[in-house]
Amino acid sequence: MKICIIGSGYVGLVSGACFSDLGNTVTCVDINKEIVEKLNKGIIPIYEPGLQEMVEINLKKKRLLFSTDISSSIKKSDIIFICVGTPTINNKADLKYVYNVVKSIKSNLNKYKIIVTKSTVPVSTGDKIEKILNLKKNKNKFDVVSNPEFLREGEAIRDFQYPDRVVIGTNSKKANTTMKNLYLPLIKKGSRYINTSRRSAELIKYASNAFLATKITFINEIANLCEKSHIDVQDVATGMGLDDRIGSRFLRAGPAYGGSCFPKDTRALVSTGQIFKTNLSVVKTVIRSNEKRNNLLLDRIKIIMKNKIKNKNISFLGVTFKSGTDDMRESPSLKMIPSLVKKGAFISYYEPTGQKKQFKSKNITYCENIKEACQNADLIIIHTEWNEFKQLNFKKITKKRKFKVFDMRNLYSTSEMKKNKINYFSIGR
Ligand SMILES: NC(=O)c1ccc[n+]([C@@H]2O[C@H](COP(=O)([O-])OP(=O)(O)OC[C@H]3O[C@@H](n4cnc5c(N)ncnc54)[C@H](O)[C@@H]3O)[C@@H](O)[C@H]2O)c1
Repeated sequence: MKICIIGSGYVGLVSGACFSDLGNTVTCVDINKEIVEKLNKGIIPIYEPGLQEMVEINLKKKRLLFSTDISSSIKKSDIIFICVGTPTINNKADLKYVYNVVKSIKSNLNKYKIIVTKSTVPVSTGDKIEKILNLKKNKNKFDVVSNPEFLREGEAIRDFQYPDRVVIGTNSKKANTTMKNLYLPLIKKGSRYINTSRRSAELIKYASNAFLATKITFINEIANLCEKSHIDVQDVATGMGLDDRIGSRFLRAGPAYGGSCFPKDTRALVSTGQIFKTNLSVVKTVIRSNEKRNNLLLDRIKIIMKNKIKNKNISFLGVTFKSGTDDMRESPSLKMIPSLVKKGAFISYYEPTGQKKQFKSKNITYCENIKEACQNADLIIIHTEWNEFKQLNFKKITKKRKFKVFDMRNLYSTSEMKKNKINYFSIGR
């Protein structure tokens, strides 16, 4: 099939590479010339394991193309995937990037096309797209389909190739048959295929993200209780997770949830609730609790440091919102690090994906490796769970005798740390 992907970021690039790998001819479009130039040279602008190799192979086979020419890319394609960003402005999804793309599609509707929103868009966005494209005038020239994307950064290729489910929101039989054929190789490998109404598909994405954010926030609050009642939150999570109705995933206590999806999608869902006069009180509470978590962990750091933050060297291992990605969007470190600097701390950080220019302060230093980041540390903060942070010999990586470790991902055993006489603090234990 001839596919056009508009927006070549985390979702667009991964989807484009994977669809081309399934044998389709895919043109990935982006308005950012620099990104397209890099991609045409086989340089991947984001960190995503396995993506480089997949792009290289399919570029060579000429099944994968990159372009800034949106008009010709739309005209020659049968299926158009909208994969541009949908950030929130004033707690509402900002759909200007989506609607700009729709306007371009409208001027290039030369034959029947399926227009698919893979971007996360609020309930009824598909209806609005249909209106912009003027369904009355352009009848039989297009179908608008919702196909939400559930991939996780860091695991994106695997998630795309082996999704738990493929959700297709459309009432059009023609569009549904084409979309099912497109996903057939994944369905044959065992992925569930669900055809629903377009609005249901739009809501499935938001409801799923809000539920996962709720699960994280729930275990984070239970961790707060565990800290005060001498209980290990991991025992609680294991005990809960073994119940099939609950499941063990997303029950790991840690920093506030961040990233490019959960924070904005929970806010946008609440705003959709308001439009439809529905109070989504659980989601509202989750958002509030998560926002408070950064301050709660900052207070914990103060307690760990006995209120002496000024002139202390604090090292951060990992600054992205989780391991396996270079995505800094809404990472808890973006609030924590500047706040510690304001209190007089000197920060050294190491980030495996190399985020050198994330912080603008002379008191924040990017380091090339773990040792460089930790050598003068009074406090080492493990912020993300990269494998390379999991077996550190803390006494060797820092020169200070009285250093402390705050492990926000519970990577180490408290008893081992005690045995090794390391002043160790973690979450909910
Ligand atoms: N990142 C994730 O893990 C993830 C997972 C599932 C769903 N989503 C959703 O997918 C959507 C895209 O997210 P992302 O993280 O890939 O965003 P991104 O910011 O990484 O990429 C968006 C790309 O769109 C391009 N763009 C903007 N306007 C354009 C236009 N008019 N024409 C061509 N290109 C244009 C931008 O230059 C950018 O490269 C969002 O709605 C997001 O919520 C993201």
